[in-house]
Amino acid sequence: MRDTVRQWIREARRIAVLTGAGISAESGVPTFRDAQTGLWAQFNPQELATEAAFRAHPQRVWDWYAFRREMIAKVAPNAGHLALAAFSKRHPGRLTLITQNVDGLHQRAGSHETIAIHGSILQDQWLDAARPCCDAGALQAGRPPRCPVCGNLRRPAVVWFGESLPAAALDAAEEAANACDLMLVIGTSGVVYPAAGLALAAHQRGARVVVINPEPTELDRVADHCLREPAAQCLPALLEH
Ligand code: OAD
Repeated sequence: MRDTVRQWIREARRIAVLTGAGISAESGVPTFRDAQTGLWAQFNPQELATEAAFRAHPQRVWDWYAFRREMIAKVAPNAGHLALAAFSKRHPGRLTLITQNVDGLHQRAGSHETIAIHGSILQDQWLDAARPCCDAGALQAGRPPRCPVCGNLRRPAVVWFGESLPAAALDAAEEAANACDLMLVIGTSGVVYPAAGLALAAHQRGARVVVINPEPTELDRVADHCLREPAAQCLPALLEH
């Protein structure tokens, strides 16, 4: 199986890669939906990953993201992130990396052009549209910090449930999915849209689709091959010279 996929990678003119939480699992970042260890097995997303939750309990939500930020700061990109970055460097312009992850590990591995369709946990943004006072001076410290004049709150720059994806990132991701002749779908359960729709679009346009995941996923039905392996083991073997 691996040999076939290696051959497809050699043949492909444009490769799109869609990653999810599973690619960071071997770095020690918990996924969302794994039965025992996933974040959504322990926490209710409606209480932590929606705008309504943040407005109702800003400190609780802020602290949960602060906890995840601290965890991410302690981990490092793994061999899967590094293999993708090294491939892109060896083959400029051939691979477009789209991630649902907000952890910044692809970027830290050297994939600086990563399209992060769910934003970044490493950055903040204003909750409400910024007024001139918001950007004028120092923040008032707190959990979360706020504008000392109008009280506008800082929030993590991630996409919450019910929110639209950043338009430029989604456009770029759709373009890559539509233009590729091979898509690698790595470490995602494939249940969250519009991200999962990128793999469906690639399949409909005639691209080969390869799913890399130790477990079955919702996207296996459009896959030409499923490699049931952990990403950090599989990717170096697929992508090395
Ligand atoms: P999920 O937690 O839904 O799925 C993680 C997937 O990774 C599962 O299919 C696992 O089998 C797989 N996996 C676990 N370990 C792996 C490994 N070592 N190698 C490869 N795969 C492995 O995470 P996502 O699909 O990324 O949204 O979730 C999508 C979105 O739902 C996230 O971006 C997040 C979440 O709510 C937002 O925050 C907006």
